[in-house]
Amino acid sequence: MGQAVHYEKSVPSTQKIAHQLAGEGASEGTIVIADEQTEGRGRLSRVWHSPVNTGIWMSCILKPKIPLSQTPQLTLLTAVAIVQAIEETTGILPSIKWPNDILINGKKAVGILTELQAEADSVHSVIIGMGINVNQEARDFPDALKTIATSLKLEAGNDISRTSLIQAILYNLEQLYTAYLSAGFHPVKLLWESYAVSLGREIKARTLQGTIYGKALGINDEGVLLLQTADGTVEKIYSADIELS
Ligand code: BTN
Repeated sequence: MGQAVHYEKSVPSTQKIAHQLAGEGASEGTIVIADEQTEGRGRLSRVWHSPVNTGIWMSCILKPKIPLSQTPQLTLLTAVAIVQAIEETTGILPSIKWPNDILINGKKAVGILTELQAEADSVHSVIIGMGINVNQEARDFPDALKTIATSLKLEAGNDISRTSLIQAILYNLEQLYTAYLSAGFHPVKLLWESYAVSLGREIKARTLQGTIYGKALGINDEGVLLLQTADGTVEKIYSADIELS
């Protein structure tokens, strides 16, 4: 990872640039990283607040030969790489809330946005965007985020080197991704489950089709959340916002 690195001071969105580069044939492992994003975006068309020099705003291009149905696995793999890097760099052990949130003391410190370039059932590129709140102070967060978001600095009590954290993430991502391509998803799944919150608990999943309540049983081999509803049916949740209910 990071054999080709496109570093910019300020961009609308690293995700947008990574999509352009992937369309132009950029090689696997290409990274786009910026000090600031003016139009950072999150899941479900949300804005991702990306102020200058405080966080890691980074997108990575992968080109795995996997079916479309398995691409959620890469979000989970990336979450494991980031959790381990945060632990190694800061000593803090975060938890993961399916599918893409990394929490510290119940507040969101990291979001992951996985987007695809695909034709029919064939994946051309997977663009994985990582937004990591590193050195923000409480006053740097907009009011709407103050109670739900945090930064590594707020949790650790000291400044964190963004460079060290980027290096650790890219190293872990490379290791996990290489192992995943040869040994499959199962080892990553076990690691992911060891960091996951809300497994075995009653949750509320807000999907595009509506809200479902049930017990989070775990993830299946595709990385999809399995939710057992009150009548015992097990629903597969491909995309949702989840809360403990
Ligand atoms: C989420 O939790 O909603 C996902 C947030 C992903 C944010 C990152 S920051 C780098 C990359 N560029 C973007 O515009 N978004 C992703």
